[in-house]
Amino acid sequence: MLKKCLRKTYLIELNTFQSQSTQDIIVSMKNTQSLKHKKFYIKTFGCQMNENESEQMAGILKSYGAHPCTKMEESHIIIINTCAVREKPVEKLFSLLGRIQKIKQKNHAVIGVAGCVGQLFKNEITQRNKAVDFVMGPDNLAKLPEIINMRLKTESSPIHTSRNREWREINQISRQNRISAYVTIMKGCDNFCTYCIVPFAKGREKYRPLKYIREEIKDLAEKGYKEIQLLGQNVNSYKDPDSGKNFSSLLKEVHKIHGIEWIRFITSHPKNFTPEIIRTMAQNDKICHQLHLPIQSGSDSILKSMGRDYTRKEYLEKIKLLKKLMPDISLSTDIIVGFPGETEKDFYDTIDVLERVGYTNIFSFRYSERPFTKASAFKDSVPFEIKKKRLIELQEIQKKIQLKFNKSLIGKKMKVLCMGRSQKNHHSYRGRNEAYQVVNFKSDPDCIGKFVTVEITDCGPYSLIGKI
Ligand code: 5AD
Ligand code: SF4
Repeated sequence: MLKKCLRKTYLIELNTFQSQSTQDIIVSMKNTQSLKHKKFYIKTFGCQMNENESEQMAGILKSYGAHPCTKMEESHIIIINTCAVREKPVEKLFSLLGRIQKIKQKNHAVIGVAGCVGQLFKNEITQRNKAVDFVMGPDNLAKLPEIINMRLKTESSPIHTSRNREWREINQISRQNRISAYVTIMKGCDNFCTYCIVPFAKGREKYRPLKYIREEIKDLAEKGYKEIQLLGQNVNSYKDPDSGKNFSSLLKEVHKIHGIEWIRFITSHPKNFTPEIIRTMAQNDKICHQLHLPIQSGSDSILKSMGRDYTRKEYLEKIKLLKKLMPDISLSTDIIVGFPGETEKDFYDTIDVLERVGYTNIFSFRYSERPFTKASAFKDSVPFEIKKKRLIELQEIQKKIQLKFNKSLIGKKMKVLCMGRSQKNHHSYRGRNEAYQVVNFKSDPDCIGKFVTVEITDCGPYSLIGKI
């Protein structure tokens, strides 16, 4: 009952959309001098969207004269950009906040919690952890300098979680990677899968106008970027707010931009992933033959209670068309094991999909009950030990599939975009092939940022080894 009430209250808040809530200060861009020469540190948890939002926060702070710092202990401003998708990262945040409290005692840094946990657990955070100066939701990034500035002057309220219905363009961004760039095309999600907290945290879908996407990618191409990854919770439902152009049209527009050689996108939703998109991928050679298409479960009854809006058959038909039009397509997916009501049979239906599809990579998770979601009211019938056992079994099977596939690549030559030195071996370089697999190889430093042809000589289940 309590869970249902909590969910209802949140749904009302989600759909109300004040562009400025009463708790927000009316911000002015004048008094941000105090950010000059301040050092900041941003710690990011979660998905590529969060990474991109951290890059935006860094860009905004830099444009006000602050400098990034690699050491949290030496920073004047510490921001934790959080993820609420599963319970574990939320626990990690609270333990990190405990450590930060000690840092704050030494250097009096301003501490902020941004992202999904900030949006959803604002009161809990500010009440439980006195070191936190402010909490900020994903729709409030542009206000960051004012929030910090006011905090420095101890003027503002600590909570900034108002929501926007419209797209708000932020054009400051500070990217670490000089070769491959994330470009956000939409935010939020309207799907409300029954297990998922994201729509409550990120809000309803908002689409970035095509003209801004085009401008940003042209600029990236001029700066020498070779690859872009279009980002959004559900990129396939993209609709340009000005022209109404859909995701396929967007892909074609991006394809026209000279200089970018590889185009990828994440995340797709099987229900919105149309044959038109598949044809667009097949017909435009700069769009990588690689796709992340989360299935979540291979069982129809579980898919139904997850509210995914597609059947196993429909999903597999899309895979069939993808493979027909792009025989070299590399596929990856997300899977949840131990969703309420999942039987052994349901679980083996999922294993069966793994074997049929032959994914190059999967991201698999134990079901984690999340507040506000519909499924939090379902009886969590799968015991923890069974969930654990199923996850291990699934990952072991997938590991074998990957190893078998990777071994079949030995002796083959492939195009690899070199991203930098290998983390483990400094004489080695690492890159990604079109399938988005990690490839390690020996070369000279001048290969960084370039496409090279690598012959695969060895492999493990998670990466390939080769020579130029
Ligand atoms: N429990 C476990 N995994 C989840 N995901 C989303 N919500 C949950 C949850 N409550 C997984 C899904 C999603 C990915 C980003 O995280 O597989 O695709
Ligand atoms: Fe969550 Fe479903 Fe939206 Fe993905 S599509 S973000 S799983 S609600």
